[in-house]
Amino acid sequence: ALERTFSIIKPDATKRNLTGAIVKKFEDAGLRVVASKRIHLTKAQAGEFYAVHKERPFYDELCEFMASAPIVAQVLEGEDAIAKNREVMGATNPADAAPGTIRAEFAESVGENSVHGSDAPETAKTEIAYFFSGLELVG
Ligand code: CMP
Repeated sequence: ALERTFSIIKPDATKRNLTGAIVKKFEDAGLRVVASKRIHLTKAQAGEFYAVHKERPFYDELCEFMASAPIVAQVLEGEDAIAKNREVMGATNPADAAPGTIRAEFAESVGENSVHGSDAPETAKTEIAYFFSGLELVG
């Protein structure tokens, strides 16, 4: 079915000027950018976005990193967008990511792994709403 998912191009990637290269991977896979904004999160905003990971040992490091430089938050639309986006990103840890995936090609470590993508329809909905209003989604 036609779906929307939420994507973040993370600080390690924006710093290395990889925004275009990453978007190209999504577009080549048939995903369409229907909303996009470059923002510099505060640590508190990053913490709210990643609240589900609050109890994890890497939470503080994760929030610190996500607030360390600008990110590009996007909504991607396409057939099975959630699964497709995850396929193009590759495994969370770049050491496990399949060749040709974004994380295999660009990620620096499990923490600085270049991209985030929603893991399920419910999280996609929540994550999109955290960054975008309905009027900003232009299909
Ligand atoms: P993401 O899809 O953005 O969701 C949570 C993030 O936590 C994940 O990608 C990783 O970047 C990060 N993460 C997961 N495991 C670790 C870890 N062991 N150390 C640091 N960061 C991690």
